[in-house]
Amino acid sequence: MVQKCTVKDIMAMKGQGRKISMLTAYDAAMARMLDDGGIDILLVGDSLGNVLLGYDSTVPVTMEEMLHHARAVSRGRVRALVVGDMPFGSYQAGLAEAVTNGVRFMKEAGCDAVKLEGGEEMCDVVRALTRAGVPVMGHVGLTPQTAGQLGGFKVQGRDIESARKMVADVKALAEAGVFGVVLECVPGELAAIVTRSVDVPTLGIGAGPECDGQVLVINDLLGMFGKFTPSFVKQYVKLAPQITGAVAAFRDEVENGIFPAPEHTFSSKTDFKILLDEEQS
Ligand code: KIV
Repeated sequence: MVQKCTVKDIMAMKGQGRKISMLTAYDAAMARMLDDGGIDILLVGDSLGNVLLGYDSTVPVTMEEMLHHARAVSRGRVRALVVGDMPFGSYQAGLAEAVTNGVRFMKEAGCDAVKLEGGEEMCDVVRALTRAGVPVMGHVGLTPQTAGQLGGFKVQGRDIESARKMVADVKALAEAGVFGVVLECVPGELAAIVTRSVDVPTLGIGAGPECDGQVLVINDLLGMFGKFTPSFVKQYVKLAPQITGAVAAFRDEVENGIFPAPEHTFSSKTDFKILLDEEQS
């Protein structure tokens, strides 16, 4: 039996100097492939709003949409820790509602933990969730749900004042009980300082190599999201043109009667000609 990765295991990796790998997953088949690839954490990110559902941002994503995909990812995972991303509006209106929604990720979708965006101002929510038994991952720097307030999708913490605030935010979140923090779009030198200032692991996305782990959106890594590829993404393969090429070849073969060939067609020993005779009589 495969030993499932736990929150404790993830936290221990920082002390052991072992880097943590985290990728987004939105369905069972992909979750299985990422798990087979040895990924430590599968994040059911609200980025599914952009990359799967065709929204312009993560803001419209609902709890029901998140739970639907989180259930699928939980069914596909074997070893990895599954983290459900709390969508915009599901944890801001009050502690009771935040706890109800956090618990739903665990009870109804089989997640091991949740992630939410924000710094010091979210510490009460983090405390309420962890008290209720829901492990929480934080997310600071560029927080896409509130990108408008940050002046758009920009690198965060470029000046001393905002850098100091980021260090304070991450320390406060760690004290409130998060088991890890995503640092998104943060200068590498600042991410290194933040990483050294807390005992909990940092997971960088556009935050340089000094973080305790790295996270990417799977569709970006696979070259499957044509709209926009951020500069911090490394595309390990470019699947979009390969997929377009394959479906164009299929369409071509269908139009020209090449597909299906005999090897793609079922046959039977039954003499069906009798049906032809019946049709003609
Ligand atoms: O929703 C998401 O995919 C995320 C990652 C960018 C960390 O929050």
